[in-house]
Amino acid sequence: MQLKFFGHSAVLLSGSKNIIIDPFFKDGRAPSGIDLVAVTHGHRDHLGETVSINRLTVAGNEIAKYLEKKGLNTVGLNIGGSAFVEGVSFMMTPALHSSWIEEAGPGVYGGVAGGYVIEMDGKRIYHAGDTGLFSDMKLIGEYLRPDIALLPIGGKFTMGPDEAMIAAQFIGAKIVIPIHYNTWPVIEQDPGMFKFALERTTDIKVIVLKPGEDFFVN
Ligand code: NI
Ligand code: MN
Repeated sequence: MQLKFFGHSAVLLSGSKNIIIDPFFKDGRAPSGIDLVAVTHGHRDHLGETVSINRLTVAGNEIAKYLEKKGLNTVGLNIGGSAFVEGVSFMMTPALHSSWIEEAGPGVYGGVAGGYVIEMDGKRIYHAGDTGLFSDMKLIGEYLRPDIALLPIGGKFTMGPDEAMIAAQFIGAKIVIPIHYNTWPVIEQDPGMFKFALERTTDIKVIVLKPGEDFFVN
């Protein structure tokens, strides 16, 4: 499986299916050839281009209903639930965050925010979505045993690097990839410092990807 980081929280998993998670592209466009979309919550920097990509979309129930009204085919999940979608396993994990859909007027209720553990081709990827630190990340680690954890480090709206270091140890994935930082000045962080600190104190490897960079998952 190949993992490509598009910046912010947008990550493409390419294996037996091409899955884009949180397809928001600040400076670019959605890649072509997408089979499945997964959305962690309703904020615009995560829902992103979901509607225009218009592929089968995994989302929380409320966002799934919203997308169905826009004409999309969806699989609606809720926290702790899972589904096999075209041979790929999705489990929706909790996230400590909010989830309204930012539209003109009062906006649309987006249910609760989540993350996903996605298993494809024998590899498990945990995309935490936007979240604060929570101790049930230990349960995600023990029960779902992800190979790779994608964790927000930007702070302000999510965990910062200090909390993400604790999260990484709770989850126990051998590889951590930081996300949700440096998209805007308000979430500016130094991923190199995060890598240095986590690798100095644990056996976890931190892979820092620039937008557009790939990582081969083996
Ligand atoms: Ni958010
Ligand atoms: Mn966000």
